[in-house]
Amino acid sequence: MLYLGSEEWRPLDLRSNLVNGSVSVSDSPSEPRPSGSGQPAVLIVGGGMIVHDQILPSLYHLQRQGRIGEISVCATSHETVRKLAEAESLSRAFPGQSFRMYPAVPAPARQPDLFRQVIGRMPPRQLVVVAVPDQLHHQVILEALRHDQHVCAVKPLVLEHRQAVEIASEAYSRGLLVAVEYHKRFDDRSLMARRAYRGGHFGEFRLGTACLLEQWYYRNSNFQNWMTADHSDAFTYIGCHYVDLVHFITGLLPVSVSVYGILDRFPNGNQGYLWTDARVIWENGACLNVQNALGFPDAAPGTNTQGMTLYCQGAEGGGLIAHSDQYRGLKYCYTNPVVYAEPSPDYFQYVDLGGPGLTPVGYGYRSIEAIVAAAIRVNLEGPTVLDEIDRTGIIATPANSSYNERVIEAARESIRNGGREVRWR
Ligand SMILES: NC(=O)c1ccc[n+]([C@@H]2O[C@H](COP(=O)([O-])OP(=O)(O)OC[C@H]3O[C@@H](n4cnc5c(N)ncnc54)[C@H](O)[C@@H]3O)[C@@H](O)[C@H]2O)c1
Repeated sequence: MLYLGSEEWRPLDLRSNLVNGSVSVSDSPSEPRPSGSGQPAVLIVGGGMIVHDQILPSLYHLQRQGRIGEISVCATSHETVRKLAEAESLSRAFPGQSFRMYPAVPAPARQPDLFRQVIGRMPPRQLVVVAVPDQLHHQVILEALRHDQHVCAVKPLVLEHRQAVEIASEAYSRGLLVAVEYHKRFDDRSLMARRAYRGGHFGEFRLGTACLLEQWYYRNSNFQNWMTADHSDAFTYIGCHYVDLVHFITGLLPVSVSVYGILDRFPNGNQGYLWTDARVIWENGACLNVQNALGFPDAAPGTNTQGMTLYCQGAEGGGLIAHSDQYRGLKYCYTNPVVYAEPSPDYFQYVDLGGPGLTPVGYGYRSIEAIVAAAIRVNLEGPTVLDEIDRTGIIATPANSSYNERVIEAARESIRNGGREVRWR
């Protein structure tokens, strides 16, 4: 019996989806176009797993509702965008919808700078979604901002705090939105905990544990080409979600971090810190322990394991927030093929609401929807909306979430030094 389960997202072998889908092929170097006022064109830079599993289907659904204009995807090779365009799950959910592909036709060499040309041809104040490997976010975000585009960046925004400050300043001076796609913020349980914590119902956070361990087979994915020891580690890649959530819920800021990492090898021989244990200290002295890995058993009933427990101190007793983010109450045993699964109804699912196609639901969709809606608001109502977004703190921006970059930068220093504590406040 195989075990599959609830997931935050999963690597997908797009080669298994080489069926005819609805594909927009264009040889012309024409620009991504908005389809009307208030409906921005969206360019996604990157065509990997997160784009397939969450970003593109969410945008297709927004396009279907008439809320955004044309969608384009730019990767480094035509093969990547073509596989994405032909993905069976996307053509089944969104019949008749397509995106503009860059590169439009196969080329002998990869085109890592093509995104610059495509962004350069966009009319101002559209939206660029940045979904490339972590260490490339900075250059793509700045390219988009310097061409007057709003930005939605997958987490982590960037790997250094000064880069987040630079991005915040560039965006502010141009009246543009930069949103960091921390989708766990749009999980209702996070919003419930935030409201109750800020209403004083849990007391004060003292000790916590969180984990997110992806399954072993992730090592076989494209990750082995970029999640290498020199650029990233398991904590930087995925632990940042829970650091962000603790701030999102409690409002506390982190002040120091130490990360112990175990060097391991990807199947292609590249070295990576594929097991990490982090300790994050907060401004009130609270301590959060975060464990991350690409090592959860493939045979376990979930494509990952994840969750968070925060112990709090009230005036006369203890408070508790405990979220199982992997097991969400569903136990399925399929018979064809025989698989035991614990699917999550909460992150991202396609449901049949009567068609055409299927409707994406879950906090993965809601997160993209909120960011797109915010960019449209900024265009319609002006840059004062940006202050409101920063202040409200529901959507992560460089101005209101650069504590994440402090943690990541210090974590990289710590892990390279055997887990030494790095403090910045
Ligand atoms: N839970 C989450 O929030 C979550 C989950 C997965 C990934 N991510 C983030 O998303 C990003 C991408 O992850 P992924 O899983 O899709 O990785 P991936 O390796 O599957 O895809 C990376 C993509 O980037 C493209 N790319 C690389 N260099 C490029 C360039 N110069 N121009 C255009 N495209 C380029 C590649 O062609 C590839 O399609 C990472 O920053 C990762 O941390 C976030």
